[in-house]
Amino acid sequence: MSRGGVARVSISIPPDLLKELDSMLKKVGYDRSRAIQIAIRNFLTEYKWVQESGDFSGALILLYDHKARGVEESLTDIQHAHGDIIVSTMHIHLDEDNCLEIVAVKGNSKSIKELAERMMNEKGVKQLKLTVIAK
Ligand code: NI
Repeated sequence: MSRGGVARVSISIPPDLLKELDSMLKKVGYDRSRAIQIAIRNFLTEYKWVQESGDFSGALILLYDHKARGVEESLTDIQHAHGDIIVSTMHIHLDEDNCLEIVAVKGNSKSIKELAERMMNEKGVKQLKLTVIAK
């Protein structure tokens, strides 16, 4: 519903993430609404290329909890299924729980988008960043 130039929405956030957000907001001086607006704008900018067709190159960077059940197998299965656009994968064991994976991709925007979405939806994946440039 839109009223007075803004729309009010309700979102679900894990408690730990909300706590971290609030603690960061104290430091930067934004309120929650402003922070979410900035995050949404960044997200939209980052994914605008998705609407364009054609070939792109880029890198998917993901952080995941390798102790989350089945996450390693799932991520490997996904990468095998998208082997036609994956150029290289680098795996870094960050600490006891966290793994960082950098997946270099080259292919059409639709396939890159599908790969990113599948990985992002895996339980245990905490963050995923996708940077894409025109070929
Ligand atoms: Ni690892």
